[in-house]
Amino acid sequence: MINTPVQHSESARLEAKVDSVLKRMTLEEKVGQLNQYSGFWDITGPTPKEGQAAKKYADLKKGLVGSMLNVKGVKDIKALQKIAVEQTRLGIPLIFGFDVIHGYKTISPIPLAESASWDMEAIKKSSAMAAEEAAAVGINWTFAPMVDVGRDARWGRVMEGAGEDAFLGSKIATARVQGFQGVDLAATNTILACAKHFAGYAFAEAGKEYNTVDVSETVLQNIIFPPFKAAVDAGVSTFMNSFSQLNGIPATGNNYLQRQILKGDWKFNGFVVSDWGSIKELVNHGFAKDSKQAAEIAINAGSDMDMESSAYVNHLVSLVQEGKVKESVVDDAVKRILKLKFELGLFKDPYKYCDENREKETVGKPEFHAEVLDMAKKSIVLLKNEKELLPLKKTAQKIAIIGALANDKTSPLGNWRIAADENTAVSVLEGMQNYKGNQITYAKGADVIIGTTAFVLETKINMTDKSGFAEAIAVAKQADVVVMVLGEHGLQSGEGRSRADIGLPGVQQELLEEIFKVNPNVVLVLNNGRPLAIPWAAENIPAIVEAWQLGTQSGNAIAQVLYGDYNPSGKLPMTFPRSVGQLPLYYNYTSTGRPVMDEPDSVFWSHYIDEKNTPLYPFGHGLSYSKFEYSNLVLSTPSFAPGGRLLASVTVKNVGKVSGKEVVQMYIRDLVGSTARPVKELKGFELIELEPNESKKVDFIIDQNTIQFFTANSKWEAEEGDFNIFVGGSSFTTLETSFQYVN
Ligand code: BGC
Repeated sequence: MINTPVQHSESARLEAKVDSVLKRMTLEEKVGQLNQYSGFWDITGPTPKEGQAAKKYADLKKGLVGSMLNVKGVKDIKALQKIAVEQTRLGIPLIFGFDVIHGYKTISPIPLAESASWDMEAIKKSSAMAAEEAAAVGINWTFAPMVDVGRDARWGRVMEGAGEDAFLGSKIATARVQGFQGVDLAATNTILACAKHFAGYAFAEAGKEYNTVDVSETVLQNIIFPPFKAAVDAGVSTFMNSFSQLNGIPATGNNYLQRQILKGDWKFNGFVVSDWGSIKELVNHGFAKDSKQAAEIAINAGSDMDMESSAYVNHLVSLVQEGKVKESVVDDAVKRILKLKFELGLFKDPYKYCDENREKETVGKPEFHAEVLDMAKKSIVLLKNEKELLPLKKTAQKIAIIGALANDKTSPLGNWRIAADENTAVSVLEGMQNYKGNQITYAKGADVIIGTTAFVLETKINMTDKSGFAEAIAVAKQADVVVMVLGEHGLQSGEGRSRADIGLPGVQQELLEEIFKVNPNVVLVLNNGRPLAIPWAAENIPAIVEAWQLGTQSGNAIAQVLYGDYNPSGKLPMTFPRSVGQLPLYYNYTSTGRPVMDEPDSVFWSHYIDEKNTPLYPFGHGLSYSKFEYSNLVLSTPSFAPGGRLLASVTVKNVGKVSGKEVVQMYIRDLVGSTARPVKELKGFELIELEPNESKKVDFIIDQNTIQFFTANSKWEAEEGDFNIFVGGSSFTTLETSFQYVN
């Protein structure tokens, strides 16, 4: 594994092996290793023009391809590997990449949902499971985890990340990299991971997909970089750059990002793959005049592998011959790729991931279903629960289930699950019907979306058809409790799915209000890939359950939570705004010069005249069927100096009637800094489980590392001064004390 200490002799041996291959390669063959083609059909990108498939086959036979993506199944992968190994001059094996984002065939919750578990062991296990299933079909590289910190819910890809926080995001990045890669890359149940998209992609202006990114160095260093750095420290094998520009320089052609920070400061020794076609897109950015110049810029800036631009394979040889690119630059990129091929064990056995029996035994095995069900339950967040409407009683109840998403077996798979079969998730209706004690009726009420195929989306987001309302109202009138499953279809978030309105799509909001009029005992189950603005529901609906898109076992997980067979413990990894106009909205903002109204009715303070400043649900929020009381926040010492530390302890007691889990969160505010510091920042958390009446003392260690940041000196350092510390069950904590750091 890279970036972990290896015996000197072992790394020298590896280097010698790589060099011995490199020595035998022609320049054309070297460039071939840097070329990645998508499978000969189209899945995730624009449709290839006619004739491309033939060209790709020809290139493959000439040894001009180093990796393929979007090929799945042992049969196809083996066939392509056979060409690379048996028909090319040097027989260098291919690496097969695939977007294994939240499961391969057996689908776990979308990454944002998993992040709501704050359970690192569970997240790691989920990635390990995905790796095992994918490796069994011949894949040995996933384009995950996406570690982009996202603060803007309009951007559709927040579903693929870990939310808005750099600290939580770093822990999750580590867990996912460890899960995918395991401890041995040569094992047949582990695959290469890829930290993406380096860097800044989620900060697209106005939340619009692929848009320009302009951020300060303070934000880049303190917010965007940490999860990437954590991935490097966890030994991630590969990085992917981004479609977007960063402060005027497209990420794919960005020397500062790739050479100075990643390969320089962080000593990353894996390779960087471009995003799909992002090298040739340098032309559209107005950063290169043609595809040849784009290739020159990208390779010199540290992009090692070209995904689907054909810019390297078409131009790199002549660029080297013309002296525009040094051969040593090409050699360095090739070596990085060959090294990982050795580490995967492909030179020893190019077909090691291609075992038909293993494929048959592994894909969709029952253990995976048990694991994704467990992860799904852990990902659910109870946003609101008044009148003790939840958990539902198990007998003698008439329950009306309403909403198109309740009866949908595809939407819960979410976006980015290209190998999953349609209609394979357990729907909410099916999950609820597994409980036999109640009488269940169902009405659709309104559609959410129409005309979806896996990756071509024809969505009528503004559907107006209310013909199903009457039936839904009739069903609701007869019921003791109404469970409404509303939100976004699984394909309304993800790449290319930015939204300018983040309310409930279509006429679902009206449906909700109409149903509430005839039966106020409504449990709203939300399915969505991003925070939604649902102020009316938050105000009026007594119980709200955030159930994201939870994957294959979705309906079972939701039913078990609604019936109290699983006590929810998830916490929001992203702030829920009141309205889209508040975005970007995040808990760790810096204070303005006018944070509060200092005179009655003044308008001259930082606010909106038509909206509150506060979120609908804050970062870290999530309820339980238990109740937790926090007390006794004490510090071991009121101050510490360099090399020292202090212990912050808090007592948490379960004062509820059932056992439950709680994520105890610790935040710090650095009161004065050389750059303005956030009003609070998550600096520690612990997931604990308590029986009724049981209490536990939870300790957090605070040292220099905890309080350091990228200062005005352009260095990571801890600055002397006063700090506040807050502990509680969300970013809206109640317990507070303070300490000093004395330099
Ligand atoms: C996405 C990447 C993905 C790649 C390959 C691109 O459109 O931005 O995240 O890994 O396609 O499918």
